[in-house]
Amino acid sequence: MKNNNHLRCKIKVSAPGKLMLFGEHAVVYGLPCIVTAVDQRMRVEIELSNDKLIRVSSPDVGIDNLELKLSDNLKNIPKGAKFVFTSIKNFYKKYNLSSGLIVKTKSDFSSSFGFGSSSAVTVCIVKALSELFGKKMGRKQLFDICFQTVLEVQGVGSGFDIASAIWGGTIYFIGGGKKILPISTKSVPIVVGYTGIKADTSDLVNKVALLRRDQPETIKLIFSAVSMIVKKARKAMEINDFKSLGRLADMNQGLLDSLGVSTQKLNDLIFSSRMAGAYGAKLSGAGGGDCMIAFYSKNNLERIRDSIKKAGGIFIPVKTSAEGVRIER
Ligand code: MEV
Repeated sequence: MKNNNHLRCKIKVSAPGKLMLFGEHAVVYGLPCIVTAVDQRMRVEIELSNDKLIRVSSPDVGIDNLELKLSDNLKNIPKGAKFVFTSIKNFYKKYNLSSGLIVKTKSDFSSSFGFGSSSAVTVCIVKALSELFGKKMGRKQLFDICFQTVLEVQGVGSGFDIASAIWGGTIYFIGGGKKILPISTKSVPIVVGYTGIKADTSDLVNKVALLRRDQPETIKLIFSAVSMIVKKARKAMEINDFKSLGRLADMNQGLLDSLGVSTQKLNDLIFSSRMAGAYGAKLSGAGGGDCMIAFYSKNNLERIRDSIKKAGGIFIPVKTSAEGVRIER
């Protein structure tokens, strides 16, 4: 900690992006999913200032020194900044604090990929504040305040992305954080293809909610099949059986297609990587765009990568099971 005339302390924190492997959408209704943390990170620096202003710079999402007071209405500020301010407000409310802050965020990955930049930034902010103000928080406590923040800003969500940013690794997660269990697996061999289309998670979750309202029995059956796939995938992952994981990914994709969340572009990338020899492939996340993943074996990695590019996708190199939130020295 560094002191000068004004009280000033600075801290740097980072948290990983995530990729949903199995169980998206069903997890919103209290069922399990599997998510892995990727080696591309969100980085946040927070400095204490002795006025009452919160200043935020997030150049990746076009926010340049946005200044707000804690009492200001957040209605008309950019979405990226809403996560930052709401995290600070919730933390300050819990501990009855009011200091001014200078917040800078920088991401290794584009906020368009669907890697969970909003949840990663929320986790970084709360973790940084807990260190800065000496308020020790366990992982579950951190999860609860971050999940509450994301629900306030976004309205919907299971919290799997928050858990991934905190715990890191590859985890088995039950909607709302009822269970968060690390899966002991090697780094999962997946290739990631980005469609070039940014999806809106809330719209897609709402679309599935409408379908569920129209067809409750059918959706119940689909979700219970997804849940079975997630449980089998967890077992396959524990013994590094990537061939079975591929088959389960194909089945999960079929069910996601039946929910109406896949797209022509996602399907093009998924089918071309299967034809290039992938064990299996599926969309990852809400659907509607964002990314797909394919499970590969070493001998066909290059072919799958090329096939994604040929089908019009953008290949994103990632390593899985990355470390969760951490203080950067
Ligand atoms: C979005 O990445 C995954 C969903 O299951 C939403 C969520 O779990 O918050 C569609």
